[in-house]
Amino acid sequence: MNPQVPEAGTLAAFEAAKGFMPLDEGLALYAAAAEAGALGLPLLEVGTYCGRSTLLLADAARQAGVTAVTVDHHRGSEEQQPGWEYHDPEVVDPVVGRMDTLPAFRRTLHAAGLEEHVVALVGRSPRAAALWGTPLGLVFVDGGHTEEHATADYEGWAPHLAPGGLLVIHDVFPDPADGGQAPHHIHERALASGDYIPGPATGSLRVLRRR
Ligand SMILES: C[S@@+](CC[C@H](N)C(=O)[O-])C[C@H]1O[C@@H](n2cnc3c(N)ncnc32)[C@H](O)[C@@H]1O
Repeated sequence: MNPQVPEAGTLAAFEAAKGFMPLDEGLALYAAAAEAGALGLPLLEVGTYCGRSTLLLADAARQAGVTAVTVDHHRGSEEQQPGWEYHDPEVVDPVVGRMDTLPAFRRTLHAAGLEEHVVALVGRSPRAAALWGTPLGLVFVDGGHTEEHATADYEGWAPHLAPGGLLVIHDVFPDPADGGQAPHHIHERALASGDYIPGPATGSLRVLRRR
């Protein structure tokens, strides 16, 4: 089996899952996660949504014998709220009247047979980061895309990356015409810190290696 490519069942589940990540970026995320898995440390995602990208981290975690950890409050980001561009009425809890992507996420993982390899943290990313104390092999930042949220995710989780670990940032758009600037700003900040060696770029996905 080629360790840099997810299993066919995982790929099919990825394509079937709700979410925003195109296949080329998903394959790049998987390759980063498979590489980082060799460190023998957990792989951490900020921004679970319905589990589309989590599937890939889970598959890589399974291959490496490590755990994928994914953090989300499951109430959606600003641009996913009713009336905004990325809103999906199917993920609104009719009882509570707010978004709840946790049930869809659990169905996604269950159907792919990957529940065993994932620990899901339900809550705000900075609160989870403040409790965290374990070195990480990979940090994938795909949570809130405001300056406040992206900055908090970078500051909260990147310090936990082990030497040689990979920082992966989604939705990096150097040209403001292509998208919001907050992920680009934390990418620039990581590069300026001198703590990272730039790696591959695929679409809006950027990979950096911690020195
Ligand atoms: C772009 S979506 C993630 C997409 C997912 N990675 C995928 O590829 O399918 C962003 C997610 O981040 C979550 N989120 C936004 N701000 C957050 C915060 N401060 N703490 C935890 N989750 C947050 C939202 O609830 C939303 O589900």
